[in-house]
This record gives sequence, C-alpha cells and structure tokens, in this order.
Amino acid sequence: MKLLKDKIIQDGKVLSKDVLKVDTFLNHQIDPPLMKAIGEEFAERFKDAGITKIVTIESSGIAPAMMAGLVLGVPAIFARKRKSLTLIDHLYTASVHSFTKDETNEISVSKDFVTCDDTVLIIDDFLANGQAVLGLLDIIEQASAKLAGVGIVIEKGFQPGGKMIRKQGIRVESLAIIASLEDGKVTFSEGAAV
Ligand code: G4P
Ligand code: NA
Ligand code: NA
Repeated sequence: MKLLKDKIIQDGKVLSKDVLKVDTFLNHQIDPPLMKAIGEEFAERFKDAGITKIVTIESSGIAPAMMAGLVLGVPAIFARKRKSLTLIDHLYTASVHSFTKDETNEISVSKDFVTCDDTVLIIDDFLANGQAVLGLLDIIEQASAKLAGVGIVIEKGFQPGGKMIRKQGIRVESLAIIASLEDGKVTFSEGAAV
C-alpha cells in the first residue's frame, strides 16, 4: 500500500535493526485519514470472505480494526490484556508470549462477541514473532468461529511470524512488508513475502 509505505519512509524512525518506531501515526498519535485508507484497503482485500467480525488486541490494533469494521459494516472486538472490572467470567482466554518484552500475558475476549456463527478477520498493527496472532487464533478456535484470514498493517518480514502463520495455510495480508531495517534504513519486500 503506497500511502502507508510513503508514510513509513517519511515518519518512521529506525530504532535498531529490529525495531521501527511509528509513534506519529500508529502507536501513539494516530493519523485518522491514513487509518481510514488502511481500513478501506483491508475491506477491499477481504470483501468476498464473508466476514462478520474483526478481532484485534488492544491497544494499537484498535484503530485499523475499527476502520476496517466501519467499511465492512461489521463490529470490531479487541482482546483485552488486563482484567476488566465488568468482564470477569464467560471469557475465552489465551496466553501471548512476547519475545521482545520477555513476558507472557493473558488476553481475553467475551464469549458473547465471538461465536460459532462468526467468520473472523484478525487485524493487528505489527507482525513480528506472530505470538499475538497465535493467541487470537487460539481464541477463535475455542469459539469454533471460522477464520477468514489475518490483516497486518506492518509486517517485519525478517522476523518469523508471517512465515509461521502462512505455513498453517492461513491467508495473511500485510499492507507493508519490511525486508530489512539494516543501516538505519527501511527496505520493503517486493511482492508477497512467503
Ligand atoms: P508478536 O506478537 O509478533 O510476537 O510481537 P512481539 O511480542 O515481538 O511484540 C510485542 C509488542 O511490540 C506488540 O505491541 C507489537 O505490536 C510491538 N512491536 C513488535 N515489533 C515492533 C516494531 O518494530 N515497532 C513497533 N512500533 N512495535 C513493534 P503491544 O505490546 O501489543 O503494544 P500495543 O498494541 O499496545 O501498541
Ligand atoms: Na499490537
Ligand atoms: Na504495538
């Protein structure tokens, strides 16, 4: 997606050979027109998949998930990372291990919002090691919902998540795939990274 790649080149900061900072439009400050375009792009790619729900994880997945839900005309649900005061039982839970942060967190989704009648599109801001997506897949399986695929805003193609998930036969659509962050420079993959 050209608009997104241009924004990454213009505003992204390469913090190390592994980490891209995009706080000006995705992870802290949010760029609404760009998020709207991202939602339209996901909706276009998955328009024939019969999607009934979008599922993401708080917090940075919410903006692109909500915009995709707006265009597809379906609800967006975010898995919670913290226990909520009102969301105490009747939950699907999964653990998500972050290699980056070296911690494991429980994520949860109410059984009311994902059911066996749903066809789900998972959306997230970054795909790195793929652990967040694995946690969401676990929850969708517990709910016996159908999976349409995974939509990612920025995939780091040099980390193993994308390959691991595609190997399971799951459709992964990433709007920008980064091949390398070496030498402080963002290099995109051409075509689909497999
Ligand atoms: P994984 O799910 O692919 O295994 O991701 P990992 O544990 O490596 O990442 C942990 C957190 O860091 C996630 O956000 C993920 O989106 C984010 N992340 C991973 N790589 C990058 C990167 O290069 N740049 C930025 N900006 N973020 C990255 P989170 O902790 O769930 O936070 P948030 O959704 O509240 O922002
Ligand atoms: Na995230
Ligand atoms: Na994030």
